[in-house]
Amino acid sequence: NANKMWGGRFAASPADVMQEINVSISFDKVLAPHDIRGSKAHAAMLSEAGIITKSDAREILKGLDQIAAEIESGKFVFSEELEDVHMNVESRLKELIGAPAGRLHTARSRNDQVATDFRLYVRDAADGIIQSIVGLQKALVAKAETHAAVVMPGFTHFQPGQPVTFGHHLLAYVEMLGRDRGRFQDARRRLNECPLGSAALAGTSFPIDRAKTAEVLGFDRPMANSLDGVSDRDFALEILAAASIAAVHLSRLAEEIVIWMTPQFGFIKLSDRFTTGSSIMPQKRNPDAAELVRAKIGRIAGAFQGLLMVIKGLPLAYSKDLQEDKEATFDALDSLRIGLAAMTGMVADLEPVEEAMRAAAGRGYSTATDLADWLVRELKMPFRDAHHVTGTIVKAAEDRGLDLEDVPLDVMQAVEPKITKDVFSVLSVENSVKSRKSYGGTAPQSVAKMARAWARRLEKD
Ligand code: ARG
Repeated sequence: NANKMWGGRFAASPADVMQEINVSISFDKVLAPHDIRGSKAHAAMLSEAGIITKSDAREILKGLDQIAAEIESGKFVFSEELEDVHMNVESRLKELIGAPAGRLHTARSRNDQVATDFRLYVRDAADGIIQSIVGLQKALVAKAETHAAVVMPGFTHFQPGQPVTFGHHLLAYVEMLGRDRGRFQDARRRLNECPLGSAALAGTSFPIDRAKTAEVLGFDRPMANSLDGVSDRDFALEILAAASIAAVHLSRLAEEIVIWMTPQFGFIKLSDRFTTGSSIMPQKRNPDAAELVRAKIGRIAGAFQGLLMVIKGLPLAYSKDLQEDKEATFDALDSLRIGLAAMTGMVADLEPVEEAMRAAAGRGYSTATDLADWLVRELKMPFRDAHHVTGTIVKAAEDRGLDLEDVPLDVMQAVEPKITKDVFSVLSVENSVKSRKSYGGTAPQSVAKMARAWARRLEKD
């Protein structure tokens, strides 16, 4: 037989380069457990529908279980000549049970088979990621609760803006991750329809029960159009889009960890468990884990862009282009998984250096807004005038090399005679954060309350 798979029609073996470009087993073998799960559901349905005999179905199911065990124990030999995971499994089934193996592919094509396998894989990965996001949220909430009142600088333009608390800063990421989780959950709902039974593209003449296989595989329903079933990968695109956004969030936090770790900032300490040394500079402690989390977005957004381009302009239904959907998707979802795990570890590990944060919080006239607000509240000044008066006082402080808290009252009164010594009460960073009691604001009490509410909510997830 000249061709291992398509002997009937083919007189010659593929060119070496044909095999090289076509073969997918090196990466699609991770689909094997899903492929076997799909095949078992299909075989059971075929026999229930009277399309194959009960005894053939029994043989097939037994054989598939054995293959699953062989794969799990690492004994299974994957062959490049057999192209992909589907042909590898089926060919082993033939070795094990003989003739009945040939009946498994009744009313099925590799097109609906791979679409089903890939959906099952992406669904599992999404479920894992959803759980990992919850894990990271819990770690952040625990830190936020402990450090609800630790004052640090809040930045705009990466210049000191107004003091905030460390807990408040961490809870911002909890909110972002909450939306990330929602995006994965939404995408999963749309993903959860079963393409199996679409066959090659047009459906099948056999009386299959698609509702049955869909149910057995944990899908909500069969997909309603066979052409759509075998040819769209929007479910993977949505998950990759959600993954990209989540990875962007992780990269922002990772970047902050890198900055906070520098001696110039010195806002946090990260233990040896999440840092590395240098092979030449003995003094170094580098935040490599944070740097790698910061970088993972490259692969993840790359996978999203890559798959968009694969699908763009592809006429219905299946084309081999669609084999290019897998490698980068697997890599991207795995990258997000490891990124979430590393970030969770770092967040649990890191400790704020309170004195450094507090000192930095007071630098850069960060309570100038509090002074302006005081003028509005106590002297009934319009905010725009208060802004101008405060700016002039900041300039005076700057000229004298003083922090705002240390500017003498008479210097302030030279700018605005109605200012009294009461003003100093609003100029400390502690009082500044305490006063930000508006909903969603940084007041330590509100932060602690928000952290507790999140902790309760996450308990249930
Ligand atoms: N390995 C193929 C893929 O990943 C399986 C489907 C092959 N179908 C086909 N008509 N050649 O897409």
